[in-house]
Amino acid sequence: MKGWRTGLAIGLALAVWRSSPGLAEEASPSLHPATEYLSTGMKAEQADLARNRGMLWVDQGAALWRQAQGVAGKACADCHGEAEASMRGVAARYPAVDATSNRLLNLEGRINQCRTTRQQAQALAYESNELLGLTAFIAYQSRGLPVNVATGGPAQPYVEAGRKLWNERQGQLNLACAQCHEAKAGHKLRGDTISSGVGTGYPVYRLEWQGMGSLHRRLRACQLGVRAIQFDQGAPEYLALELYLASRAAGLPIETPALRR
Ligand code: HEC
Ligand code: HEC
Repeated sequence: MKGWRTGLAIGLALAVWRSSPGLAEEASPSLHPATEYLSTGMKAEQADLARNRGMLWVDQGAALWRQAQGVAGKACADCHGEAEASMRGVAARYPAVDATSNRLLNLEGRINQCRTTRQQAQALAYESNELLGLTAFIAYQSRGLPVNVATGGPAQPYVEAGRKLWNERQGQLNLACAQCHEAKAGHKLRGDTISSGVGTGYPVYRLEWQGMGSLHRRLRACQLGVRAIQFDQGAPEYLALELYLASRAAGLPIETPALRR
């Protein structure tokens, strides 16, 4: 009887905790990043930067950072200096609403905004090695730092849109993101162990891709998995989802470049 009462009290306390605003966005100990389910060998490779294959893209990004580009003939470094200092912690705040354009930008979008307006160069294509490299290079400057996106003010409608998409059933299999990544986290699916879908290690080096890929490429794979219509990389729906994922992952460390099967 006593145990039952205690159980009820804990249940109620949890319900109150979950519904209190602000607290709900704190890092939850029940979130399982995909790294947790990597084999011991892959975990070791991810941790060892000398062997981590994603570092090839980080190095490519570092080289691009110093190259003059576009009509302006400027390198990123000409304006931003050493990325180790100027870009530290930046990736942890993205996606973010850009005050000038009032648009939600992820890191890729933010980089391309500087490409087009500051360097006066062509935007880099999504999934190009150049954009993956620069994104990985900048995210790498935040490796180990906690995800810390703004979710209030102008960001709030995007968080809500992302949350709605997360919970919406879709595709021929009629499954929501949440049904796999909340209800089935820790379960096996076609050789994978389903994680909580936090996405804090992107861009990642994925064996199946034999290369680096963006978070949006991964989201396309998830939508294909349920036979849903896939959005394009950079689509507003994926940007909103990306922000919602980051809001769930608040406090978890950035792991870029992570490795995946
Ligand atoms: C001519 C100067 C200039 C160049 C070249 C330039 N940027 Fe920027 N960048 C800025 C300025 C100024 C800002 C902040 C103001 C703004 O535009 O919003 C900024 C902002 C950023 C931010 C957001 C930082 C934050 O704290 O949110 C990132 C990321 C960034 N730049 C990356 C790059 C990359 C990558 C390149 C090269 C491809 C580049 N920039 C080239 C001037 C430049
Ligand atoms: C049928 C189950 C299923 C559905 C539905 C699904 N996913 Fe996934 N997802 C997976 C599997 C399996 C993986 C690969 C293993 C893992 O990391 O969870 C994955 C990987 C991911 C990852 C990468 C995690 C990492 O760190 O590498 C993210 C983020 C993600 N999914 C988000 C989503 C979103 C957003 C949706 C809805 C649009 C969605 N997923 C729908 C099964 C699903």
